[in-house]
Amino acid sequence: MEQTFLMVKPDGVQRGLVGEIISRFERRGFKLVAAKFERLPDARVMEHYAEHVQKPFFPGLKAYITSGPCFLMVFAGKNIVKISRDMIGATNPAGAAPGTIRGDLALEIGMNVIHGSDSVETAAREIGIHFKPEELASYTRIDEQYLY
Ligand code: PPS
Repeated sequence: MEQTFLMVKPDGVQRGLVGEIISRFERRGFKLVAAKFERLPDARVMEHYAEHVQKPFFPGLKAYITSGPCFLMVFAGKNIVKISRDMIGATNPAGAAPGTIRGDLALEIGMNVIHGSDSVETAAREIGIHFKPEELASYTRIDEQYLY
């Protein structure tokens, strides 16, 4: 089953949105297989956002993402990478469609609530950065027969 890495950023944690965000993905039919709170160390932020470290927004992004604990998750399900990106909405909440997480819950690109992997390859890389294999749970959702 396809997996993705999702992370509620410090603004989402501090606004009490973790439960709402988990619920959106679970209700859609996706399976939560790993989750933890973590304040990301600088080195991990650099690794996670490696392709953006030279960009002008990176210092602000790093300060924001390390300003408090994040809530890190792995979700699994058919087409989870594309569907979760659609559910999250545009990177800049100003252009995010209503009904998406950012379109419903965020206003600023500098505080856009959640990160989601943008490809299957990125998801595998990001899961490997943030989780050990033994941290991923293996179980069957009782409604899988109705979802697939
Ligand atoms: S780019 O340059 O188009 O590749 O960048 P983009 O894909 O739009 O964004 C890459 C990640 O950087 C975050 N970002 C920002 N964070 C804080 N402040 C500003 N101004 C900013 N601009 C971009 C953006 O949310 C992406 O992070 P994730 O975690 O993937 O959402």
